Amino acid sequence: MTQQKLTILDKFITEKPEFHSAKPNEICSILKAVEEASKAIHETINRAGLVDILGAAGSENVQGEQVQKMDLYANDRFIESLKKCGHIAAIASEENEEIIQLNTTGEYLFATDPLDGSSNIDVNISVGTIFSVFKRDKTGETSADEFNRFGHEQILAGYVLYGTSTILVYTCGSGVHAFTFDTKTDVFALTNPSIKTPENGSIISFNEGNFNTVNKGVQSYITYCKELNKEGKRTHTGRFMGSLVADFHRNMLKGGMFIYPATADAPEGRLRLLYECNPIAMLAEQAGGKATYGTQRLLDIKAQHIHQRTPLFTGSKNMMKKVLQFLK
Ligand code: AHG
Ligand code: MN
Ligand code: MN
Repeated sequence: MTQQKLTILDKFITEKPEFHSAKPNEICSILKAVEEASKAIHETINRAGLVDILGAAGSENVQGEQVQKMDLYANDRFIESLKKCGHIAAIASEENEEIIQLNTTGEYLFATDPLDGSSNIDVNISVGTIFSVFKRDKTGETSADEFNRFGHEQILAGYVLYGTSTILVYTCGSGVHAFTFDTKTDVFALTNPSIKTPENGSIISFNEGNFNTVNKGVQSYITYCKELNKEGKRTHTGRFMGSLVADFHRNMLKGGMFIYPATADAPEGRLRLLYECNPIAMLAEQAGGKATYGTQRLLDIKAQHIHQRTPLFTGSKNMMKKVLQFLK
């Protein structure tokens, strides 16, 4: 196997300042903190079962969900690395009811789902970290309502997918770029610059167990996906891992659509706006796809509180166009 010539993050940011908005040094420093925390999480996840990290921590988070040991570990690693980086004023995390104050001189706000799909760790299935960054317009102590922004105000968004390899995917508003963690050299190296999602796709990611609890429009679309073509062959394929990051990543590369609509159990949707849907939506748009909360652009929602939920529909342009016909 030949080793490819690698471009690491710092070099990429220096060489392509046009991809990194006004402040490449600050973006670089935040992304380096993300890399540092992700490496620790990568190492720990890879030793799951060998170290005491599997299973529930025995507590519930603010949304009443069972917290996994690995959720707390990932959250702590991110808080630690972001505090050191100095540019983050405060964090809104899935794992903390209130925001976490880091640096009064920090110029940015960081929202995160430190471990997405965490129950999948117990069964050796991919998980992720999702993050979103806003620029502050003041300094000093941060108040929680500073996070009440529109998704289109994000200046940086991304995720780390701990899959068959660990990959950091991000956008600063000029394309989507991905860096794969090289365990041999201990660096994240550029593997997928300027990712573009196919305009058409045939993968539909939806928790079929929710079918009878979603609205008629969604039901009709799912039924449409199951129709056969003239030759009697299937037209779509269903893939749902219970790990948004993994489902989204696959669909972004291969062409597909992920939907988590409002359900009877989750009338406002299951996924969280600030640290799950906003960053995924920004990445989707930057890769040439779309993201809505049904019929409207998701990035045009103004958050009202840090743990707000929303329905999410995201993926390839033409699939997103098609689903709209059923939702109207
Ligand atoms: P988390 O582990 O952070 O709570 O998020 C899990 C999310 C998302 O990754 C996934 O798509 C969805 O919850 C699955 O929910 P259901 O089990 O209701 O399908
Ligand atoms: Mn999640
Ligand atoms: Mn989580």
